[in-house]
Amino acid sequence: MKKLYIGTNTKMYKLRAETAEYVHSLALGVKECSEKFLQLFVIPSFTALDVAVQSASGSNNILIGAQNVCWAERGQFTGEISPLMLQELSIEIVEIGHSERRHIMHETNREIHLKVAASLNYNFTTLLCIGELQEEKDADIGDDVLRLQIKSALHGIPKEKLEKLWIAYEPVWAIGNAGYPADAKYVTEKHLVIRQTLIELYGSQTGDSIPILYGGSVNKGNCCDLICCKNVDGLFIGRSAWNVGEFLEIINKTIDAWKEKQ
Ligand code: PGA
Repeated sequence: MKKLYIGTNTKMYKLRAETAEYVHSLALGVKECSEKFLQLFVIPSFTALDVAVQSASGSNNILIGAQNVCWAERGQFTGEISPLMLQELSIEIVEIGHSERRHIMHETNREIHLKVAASLNYNFTTLLCIGELQEEKDADIGDDVLRLQIKSALHGIPKEKLEKLWIAYEPVWAIGNAGYPADAKYVTEKHLVIRQTLIELYGSQTGDSIPILYGGSVNKGNCCDLICCKNVDGLFIGRSAWNVGEFLEIINKTIDAWKEKQ
């Protein structure tokens, strides 16, 4: 069975004790529904990474990730967290370029490229987030934006380095409280553009092997439709995953739909 990726970024919501409890309950919950093809992951705040790793340690089914990384190992970068520091905490995933980083913190494509290159060099599973703004969708330049974000992030990175690259397509207009979910037809179109761009850059063997996850207002009502779209290899979930019971419901439904899709 092809691998299925389901994970959440808890953004800036959960404190240490809440994160520990969340990962612990999730690990217990998935014990019952655990499937070999399922790869779960949780991306908490920096300050809760150590307790998240501890809580996940018994499960061997949940990977823990960081929400950002600096491209430099050491240096004059006040307030930043280096890849070495994440390694020290046994972090396995690094998320880069989430829309809130791009559009609230004004991270540029150039910075995102540096971070992706550093993260892959340090052998982290690297979750590159891309997505178009509402105004870009309205102007019908969404595909161009996606191609630009992929090409600039991966510029000069050889295919041998991409073994641990994942991509999350998250249309900015679909994310968060003000977001509305993308429909299956739209998601299928955009995932095809992403797949074609990866193949254009790296050939079909590598291009086809990179997992592409969908994120933005995923919930228990739309998870099955979304996971059934062609070129959707997983779901990256915010609000609907932060209650363990609700997340487990989504995970179980998605697993069933995934099995049917194969
Ligand atoms: P959401 O967040 O599921 O709450 O829309 C998704 C994300 O920001 O990754």
